[in-house]
Amino acid sequence: MRAIRLSLLLALAMVLPGCGEEPKPPATHNTAIPQDPALAQIYTNSCQLCHANPAANAPLTGDRKAWAPRIQQGVDTLLDHAINGYNGMPPMGQCVECTEEQFLQLIGFMADQPLPQ
Ligand code: HEC
Repeated sequence: MRAIRLSLLLALAMVLPGCGEEPKPPATHNTAIPQDPALAQIYTNSCQLCHANPAANAPLTGDRKAWAPRIQQGVDTLLDHAINGYNGMPPMGQCVECTEEQFLQLIGFMADQPLPQ
């Protein structure tokens, strides 16, 4: 698994250096991890690879502005996109053992704002 993730990162690093016009968010966005240890482990093993990497074109952790319109789609759409994939977002965010509850917690953490009920 590690090797696959590493090569994925390498692939991203090679494909994406051309699109660097967007201002980089402060480093704190990229180092935050969930407080809950189980969530933190899932996050650092999968979501963080892309959602804390400006080159991945994913809405970044802690970037409320980037997340706001996504949150507005509603929880059903967010879950559907997290579980089934959405453009560059891989199905299940590469966390096949994650539950819907964990996805929602991870999304809430990354979006840094409450999810609509
Ligand atoms: C391989 C890279 C990658 C990984 C790993 C990854 N994501 Fe994503 N994710 C993306 C990208 C890229 C997008 C933006 C897709 C778009 O809007 O075109 C995205 C978007 C999303 C969205 C917003 C979808 C929408 O409707 O706008 C959610 C929610 C999400 N990811 C959750 C997660 C969670 C939870 C994890 C960890 C379990 C995770 N992602 C792991 C790349 C990744």
